[in-house]
Amino acid sequence: MIVCRSAAELERMREAGRLVGEVLTELSAMIAPGITTADLDRAAEKRIVAAGAVPAFKGYHGYPATICSSINEEVIHGIPSGRRILQEGDVVSIDVGASLDGYYGDSAMTLPVGPVSEEAATLLRVTEEALYKAIERARPGGRISDIGHAVQQHVEAFGFSVVREFVGHGIGQRMHEEPQVPNYGEAGRGPRLAEGMVLAIEPMVNAGKPAVKVLADGWTAVTRDGCLSAHFEHTVAVTSGEPWILTARAVPVGAKK
Ligand code: MF3
Ligand code: CO
Repeated sequence: MIVCRSAAELERMREAGRLVGEVLTELSAMIAPGITTADLDRAAEKRIVAAGAVPAFKGYHGYPATICSSINEEVIHGIPSGRRILQEGDVVSIDVGASLDGYYGDSAMTLPVGPVSEEAATLLRVTEEALYKAIERARPGGRISDIGHAVQQHVEAFGFSVVREFVGHGIGQRMHEEPQVPNYGEAGRGPRLAEGMVLAIEPMVNAGKPAVKVLADGWTAVTRDGCLSAHFEHTVAVTSGEPWILTARAVPVGAKK
């Protein structure tokens, strides 16, 4: 069942989303060579707890941390570690989820660590653009697959590829609700979009081939070919007007244009 949220519920989801956006803004200011992903994780947890919220990932199917931090060929679900030191030229995806008063927000961004290769910069830009093209499709009357179709069209035009094994999702009083939101496919398929639906739209895009595998830690998904990968995510409400980006950040921190 796909739940449609009332205006009052969307207000509460906006509070959760705003907090997640603030956490990402804080972490984006910390990204620099020499910092560890455990440093980022600690800062995120502190901020979420201080806001009276709960880290959504910690303990989820045994996941051990507040954020996912995925470097270079890591696609998603990288586990923060005091031994993972960011290096100049890396790209790092940070994924944050929190629940506040029973409602969830979920958002991710991929950032360059200092100057990065032209390929890396283009990958980040195109993946973030794909997210916004997908969000544009989150309107009543459209269908779920319109979202993934928009992502796939955009990224493949640049010679990049869409990850198939992981998808976006409905979100609300649980982090993962129906429907699934793939990042590929034909338009005009799947459930109809309706006012009040809230979706976590999250393109995962590889510079090389689409195939991924999960490492022995049971979490970290990496590209099979070792190419770079990027991930951007927003929690988005379908409304009668413009799509509402609940995890919008006051200071845009996405891929440098
Ligand atoms: N944003 C990711 C998702 O939608 C985060 C899940 S990480 C997990 O699935 F650890 F909680 F699984
Ligand atoms: Co998500």
